[in-house]
Order: sequence, then structure tokens, then C-alpha cells
Amino acid sequence: RVCCVFSNTFNFCSSTYLVMRGIAQLGFSLRRCLHSGSKLTTSPAASRQQGGALTSQEIYTREEKYGAHNYHPLPVALERGEGIYVWDVEGNRYCDFLSAYSAVNQGHCHPKIVSALTAQSSRLALTSRAFYNDVLGAYEEYVTRLFGYDKVLPMNTGVEAGETACKLARKWAYTVKGVPKNQAKIIFANGNFWGRTMAAISSSTDPSSYEGFGPYMPGFELIPYNDIPSLEKALQDPNVAAYMMEPIQGEAGVVVPDPGYLTKVRQLCTKHNVLWIADEVQTGLARTGRRLAVDHENVRPDIITLGKALSGGVYPVSAVLCDDEIMLTIKPGEHGSTYGGNPVACRVAMAALEVLEEERLAENAERMGQILRTELSKLPKDIVTTVRGKGLLNAIVIKETKDYDAWQVCLRLRDNGLLAKPTHGDIIRFAPPLVISESEIRDCVDVIQRTILSF
Ligand SMILES: Cc1ncc(COP(=O)(O)O)c(C=O)c1O
Repeated sequence: RVCCVFSNTFNFCSSTYLVMRGIAQLGFSLRRCLHSGSKLTTSPAASRQQGGALTSQEIYTREEKYGAHNYHPLPVALERGEGIYVWDVEGNRYCDFLSAYSAVNQGHCHPKIVSALTAQSSRLALTSRAFYNDVLGAYEEYVTRLFGYDKVLPMNTGVEAGETACKLARKWAYTVKGVPKNQAKIIFANGNFWGRTMAAISSSTDPSSYEGFGPYMPGFELIPYNDIPSLEKALQDPNVAAYMMEPIQGEAGVVVPDPGYLTKVRQLCTKHNVLWIADEVQTGLARTGRRLAVDHENVRPDIITLGKALSGGVYPVSAVLCDDEIMLTIKPGEHGSTYGGNPVACRVAMAALEVLEEERLAENAERMGQILRTELSKLPKDIVTTVRGKGLLNAIVIKETKDYDAWQVCLRLRDNGLLAKPTHGDIIRFAPPLVISESEIRDCVDVIQRTILSF
């Protein structure tokens, strides 16, 4: 790892990574001895003074006291990650089956991506877009060629990419399509999730997202997901600028549309001169077994949003991709972000994308996902009623009883060394890093099966 960090030879880093992941298993025992050794020689009070070595319970209590209560984390306090594994402050190892909501597709702390981050951040980190820098153009060329779009607009978080896509759609509607001023509409699907800004919650159907935060953004309309007649009806309105949707609804509980849905969406949007915005922030970048989830049906949206794994989890990086007819409707001064397109983000994103390609992570996600779903489907139907997903974006639906629910299943999974998080009460998402090997996924399946059967 140290060699890699100080070397600019990215290929060397990448090729040694697989070997290092193997060694990590062995190194773990040694580090665990060292870790517990340091605990023995340092009193808790002294550790706290140094700002380290709190117990898990102390970490929960401190966050509860000083942090906003806008999350409800599973009780586990992590301090280190490598590949598919994370370790808590007591030195316990877990398989990460959430991957930071699909941001860590390349595995935790991938050496090539960390190397890009450290090298660029000690050279030139931020210029703002007031000036040119020597990395942005290289990244723009790389990412647009990889995905086959004329241009990219770089932002930081997934929700900013979504906001940018909505702004582009409105601008295109007024300047190209000819929609009267302030009349443009964007259609969303029930169950969508694209973040927490005012615009994102204004299109949400989840009361915990929007309730208490009104008034809401006008010009947004909702239709059922995976429902072509509803889409066709909504698109009759000549003021519709765009249909924005996820190719698989991640936060809604990994809702996979019927085969052919994406193809029909493409056809209808083309027929009605409406932009199709595919939110690939969670489904993109190899997660579902293809570079993009829309590649399962070989269809090309007009606008793509990317985020999360665009940095492999080390930095907030997002992007919007589209062609000139849409992108060039936004002129200098009309949109931007201080950090968007900074040299560190660009280097990190190029490294993160190269890792996906070099390590053929889409193919691995496809293969490992098949194994995962086949094995999980063998679980008793009176406990696990549904297994669904594509590639390594999967979910099971737990039949809740008075004795247990999905939260309790996740707590017991944690006790057995696997981290997953419930979504919408009875659904548990299983989305490990895409670098997972066959023996690792079989071990993890074993943990899941043992845990579920213990109920
Ligand atoms: C499909 C989708 N779009 C957008 C977002 C928002 O991304 P961020 O949390 O980086 O703003 C998410 C986050 O989970 C998402 O799943």
C-alpha cells in the first residue's frame, strides 16, 4: 500500500491489488494483535485525550450528543476498510454488503484510487472554475468517450447531478423544444429517490422525505413506475420536458422493471420529443452487471447522471452526460459549483473508471449476482418471500412476524460478520463491493443462510 501511494505507476498498483487483497486476509490477524496490543497499553481515558480508541458504545453516544439526528445507523462503529471488508473499533471484521449505498463498487480504499487522490491533492487540489486546470479536460475527454456522449458537466454529489439534469431539461425545453416560459414539466416515477434537496424531495412519494418541508417545487408530476400506459398518457402534454427515472429503483427496495420497459421508455420519449433522463447514480458503473443499467436493453438515454462509485468512495464526484443540443443550452454563469471538476475529483474519477474497466467489474458483478440470487432463492419462502435484483444490486423481502423484522435480521447478520441495512421496513438490500470473489460470496451466502435460518 505504501509503495502504491508513493508511486505514480497506476498499472503497477492495479496489478498488485489482487495479490494484496489475498495478503490482507493474513495481515488481518497480525494487525488485530497489534490493534488489541495498543488497547492494552493505553487506558481509555488516555486514548480519548489522544482523540482515538473509543469503544463502539462511546462512539454512538458522542454522535448522538453532538450530531444531528437525521440518520439511524446500525450499531457498528467502523474504523478501517479494505476490499470487501470493514473493521470496527474493537477489531471485528465484517463483509460490507451495502458498499456505502453502491459508492464503493471498487472495494474499500482501492490502492489505485487512493494513489490518484493523494498524488493529485499534494500537487493541485482546487482552482475553482474561474481558471483552467491541466486535469479537467483529460477527464472530460475520457469520460465522454467511455460513455459515448458529446459533453460532461462535473458536479460533486448525486443529488447535484439530478438538479443539473433538471435544469438542463428545463433550459432545453424553453430554448429548443419551444415550451412557453415557466411552463416546463418533468415527470418522475412513484418511489423515486434522487437525494434530499428541495427539488428532490418535491418529486418524492415518501412522506419521510417530503413531510414538513413544503412548499414544494412546481412543475413536477408523478406516474407509477414500470407502467407504460401511464407514461404514454403523461407525455401527451406538449409542455413535458423530461421523464427522469432510475433504471432500477434502488432506495425503493431494488425494484426491477419488466424486461422491455427501458426500450419502451426510449421509444415514447423519442416519439413525444421528451428528454429521457436516466438516474444511474446507484445503478451505474458496473453495479448491475453492465457498465450502465440501461445497457441491459442497449438503449441510450438523452441525459445520464452518475455519482457514488465515480470516485470509488474516496471523494464526492458526480457527473451529467448528454449531447451538445442539450448541454450547450446552459451558458457561462448559468450553472456551476466551486468544487465541481476540481483536479483531485477528475484524477480520482479517471482512476475509479479505469479500475471498473481493468478489473472487469461489470462481468464479475453479473456472475456473482447470479450465484447470490440462486443461493438466496433456496431460503424458506415463509421467511424470505422475494429475492430480486440484477448484478450485485439485490434485495430480499422478509416476512415480518411479531418475533422478528428486517432490522433484527440485520442486527443478527452484523453479529455473524456481515453488514446490511433494511430499507422500507421489510426489505434488506444486498450490494457488496464488485471486487468480491466467488469463494467470498459463497462464504457470505453461508452467513446469510445461517442467520435467516436461526429465526
Ligand atoms: C438513484 C439515486 N440518485 C441520486 C442519489 C443522491 O446521491 P447523493 O446522496 O450523493 O446526493 C441517490 C442516493 O442514494 C440515489 O440512489
